[in-house]
Amino acid sequence: MKFVLASHNQGKLKEMQTILSQLGVEVVMESDVGLALEVEETGTTFAENAELKARAVMEASGLPAIADDSGLCVDWLQGGPGIYSARYGGDLDSDEARCRLLLQNMRGATDRAAHFHCAICCLFPNGDKLTAEGDCFGTIAFAPIGEGGFGYDPLFFRPELRRTLAQLTAEEKNKISHRGAALRAFAAELKEYLEKH
Ligand code: IMP
Repeated sequence: MKFVLASHNQGKLKEMQTILSQLGVEVVMESDVGLALEVEETGTTFAENAELKARAVMEASGLPAIADDSGLCVDWLQGGPGIYSARYGGDLDSDEARCRLLLQNMRGATDRAAHFHCAICCLFPNGDKLTAEGDCFGTIAFAPIGEGGFGYDPLFFRPELRRTLAQLTAEEKNKISHRGAALRAFAAELKEYLEKH
């Protein structure tokens, strides 16, 4: 069965393909089916935004569609930047600038606990829906450390590893990341679904 990934990110396609090819599933990008949708993320939760993206691609392609939405939730910031992680600070134009803003907003914080969250939604043309979620817990470092990863990785510290996510290899990160956890949960759900259908 062919699934369309509601994303323009090749890295996500690769991660998705690696785990779903074991189920005999083919995943292609929306550009592979001639789509370049810009879906407005008007939801109030990660799950709602993932569903909005999956629905737009499923309706436009007529194929089952998979979308994810993720972000960083910081306890001291009442869960922010949360669903606004990619747009934190409005028109800031780099991950470095968003990390700097986060550190500024953490000045004087007495609690540095945070987690990444990832929601995945898969919609089928017959209306069936599969969802999965994953978390990765840690703390916000006092300064960026590490060169790997992307986004807030240099600020996301795992106390038991004594490293930030930006200091891990892609495989190491995948084992503990919110996206890895959500993907594995989704793969298990999809396997069960495909066995029944
Ligand atoms: P998206 O769901 O891939 O669009 O991600 C939303 C935003 O959340 C990204 O632009 C990053 O700022 C942040 N984010 C999501 N996952 C990660 C991660 O694994 N590491 C660092 N930042 C992340």
